[in-house]
Amino acid sequence: MTTLQYLSGFANEFSSEALPGALPVGQNSPQKVPYGLYSELLSGTAFTVPRTEARRTWMYRIKPSANHPAFKRLEQQLPNSQLGPVTPNRLRWNPFELPDEPTDFIAGLQLMAATEAADKASGVSVYLYGANCSMQRVLMNADGEWLFVPQQGRLRLVTELGVVQVEPLEIAVIPRGMKFRVELLDATARGYLCENHGCALRLPDLGPIGSNGLANPRDFLTPVAHFENIDQPTQLVQKFLGELWATELDHSPLDVVAWHGNNVPYKYDLRRFNTIGTVSFDHPDPSIFTVLTSPGVTTGQANMDFVIFPPRWMVAENTFRPPWFHRNLMNEMMGLIQGSYDAKAEGFSAGGVSLHNCMSAHGPDNTTTTQAIAADLKPHKLDNTMAFMFETCSVLRPTRFALEAPQLQGNYDDCWAHMAKTFNPEQP
Ligand SMILES: [Fe+2]
Repeated sequence: MTTLQYLSGFANEFSSEALPGALPVGQNSPQKVPYGLYSELLSGTAFTVPRTEARRTWMYRIKPSANHPAFKRLEQQLPNSQLGPVTPNRLRWNPFELPDEPTDFIAGLQLMAATEAADKASGVSVYLYGANCSMQRVLMNADGEWLFVPQQGRLRLVTELGVVQVEPLEIAVIPRGMKFRVELLDATARGYLCENHGCALRLPDLGPIGSNGLANPRDFLTPVAHFENIDQPTQLVQKFLGELWATELDHSPLDVVAWHGNNVPYKYDLRRFNTIGTVSFDHPDPSIFTVLTSPGVTTGQANMDFVIFPPRWMVAENTFRPPWFHRNLMNEMMGLIQGSYDAKAEGFSAGGVSLHNCMSAHGPDNTTTTQAIAADLKPHKLDNTMAFMFETCSVLRPTRFALEAPQLQGNYDDCWAHMAKTFNPEQP
């Protein structure tokens, strides 16, 4: 049975039904919905945004979402979410350990940095997750859409619109407000999560690249309808302005039998990214590696870009081939899914994190720089690598937890120390 369908473009309309004829034809909310279902709209954007921005999905479900008792604030909140003191320093963390105690996805969420305090719900927030058991409860996040970047362990995301299975080197996006349950398909799972409070993620414009390349629309997959007709107590947890609230339902809220719309969860295999780079000299700006973008207020200055550094051939002639030294307006939080990253000889491990905020000076470390200047420039393949970046237009403030964690490297600055002074005014 097919469990996924192509999400061909983001402005189109998709539909799926788990029972034949469940999807109303020709209208959204008929007086009587087939099979005695209820119709319900999930809006991801305001009603009156331009058509190109609009995201909404009609669901045909066993019980309307409104059928719930009051939410109560949970005693067990997301731990350690308080933002720490501002710092302009370059920061890097070793990978965090997986939990020892039974920990589901919600309990294993750790906020690392955010552009605003949680109750502002704007910009982005970046989390790490680490879990060793499947959720028995269901979650919905009113604060933003979630971009999952698994680093270890496969996940089965059971959403209102169907099941999305992801593994490391794939990503998944769950729209704001969509209910879902995270199940583990391996003993443990670990990864990165970007909570996007801004405009929904979409494919970047391609400009002179043309109509093909980078992430191609046909490689994005959205689930087919899949419902649970289960009358048993189920806790629905809601994240609302950073706080966790819960209500006790007498049924599974993952009970959507048919749906249509474009506000949908989706997945993408990063190995399908059509990587583009120089075939002459120098290398392009890293924006050439953008998979998805959330536009910001200023044209071309994203609220958040999701950028990857995949395996690729390096062929540039007479060129310093690693990422150049730079100081940028944008703020960069990086992670590594597998292998090593070409700008760092050591210290940046799979599962680790680095943060280079606005105007902080960074680039290849001392060892990489020395080797790159001396290298015999033959074509060579960068393999066994998949680094990525959440690039934001606002400064990312680490949490107090992140700044106090033993994984924070106290000597990160040293990788640029002792750079030899090779300048010689007598020798052009
Ligand atoms: Fe950078």
